[in-house]
Amino acid sequence: MSAPKNIVALTGAGISAESGVATFRDADGVWAKYDYREVATPEGFAANPALVHEFYNARRRALPSVNPNAAHMALADLEKGLTERGGRLTLVTQNVDDLHERGGATNILHMHGELLKAECASCASVIDCRGDLSIESVCGVCNRTGGMRPHVVWFGEMPRFMEEAADAIMGAELFVSIGTSGSVYPAAGFVAEARALGVPAMELNLEPSENAHLFSDARYGPATEVVPQWVNEILTMK
Ligand code: OAD
Repeated sequence: MSAPKNIVALTGAGISAESGVATFRDADGVWAKYDYREVATPEGFAANPALVHEFYNARRRALPSVNPNAAHMALADLEKGLTERGGRLTLVTQNVDDLHERGGATNILHMHGELLKAECASCASVIDCRGDLSIESVCGVCNRTGGMRPHVVWFGEMPRFMEEAADAIMGAELFVSIGTSGSVYPAAGFVAEARALGVPAMELNLEPSENAHLFSDARYGPATEVVPQWVNEILTMK
């Protein structure tokens, strides 16, 4: 393969695991402690908004104490290297943390939203949010109370930036999936979309994901090891 210029990287919780952010489906993951129906669905929010706010408030409060790791930083290096080659890295992340941004990447599509943003159910504004949210929070745009919610995509809701992600896959010479179990669609379907378009697909994960058989190549190990090694290979390719 000649040096790829345009790459789409899909990331999941596994890339942030070594930064100290819990994954979802591993033995000690978030969904072993919480029922996703209670904290990550519109129905759960309608039934108990205080519980849902507390769940996301705790995760938002924990963010400043975690830092980007070598895998986040390697992807920022890849973005710079591809730009210098006249290409582009499109980083599509399922993660709601800000570790890709703090690692130095810029072209990021947060398909499941962002913890550091809130949205207003009344006026649909999306605003920066660094503190706690509650049922008493007031929208800074329309001044209404009671409609503020975390800017995260819940089960049953439409992920964001799907057209942009599909366009990027269509124009890519390589698709790479990093630290995701491949169990949540539509993200889990990107590899099949890529392969159907003839785009090679690489999996970088701690262990084979549910979709491992769909990838054309794979490297298994901790993200802080396999991602920098793989980025180095791509950036030294002629
Ligand atoms: P999961 O928890 O489902 O999967 C994490 C993956 O990362 C697993 O395949 C692990 O083997 C792998 N992993 C763990 N530690 C790793 C490490 N140090 N290096 C590399 N890989 C590692 O998380 P996601 O696939 O991101 O959505 O989950 C997808 C979506 O499901 C999330 O965005 C979230 C969740 O429910 C919503 O909340 C809507």
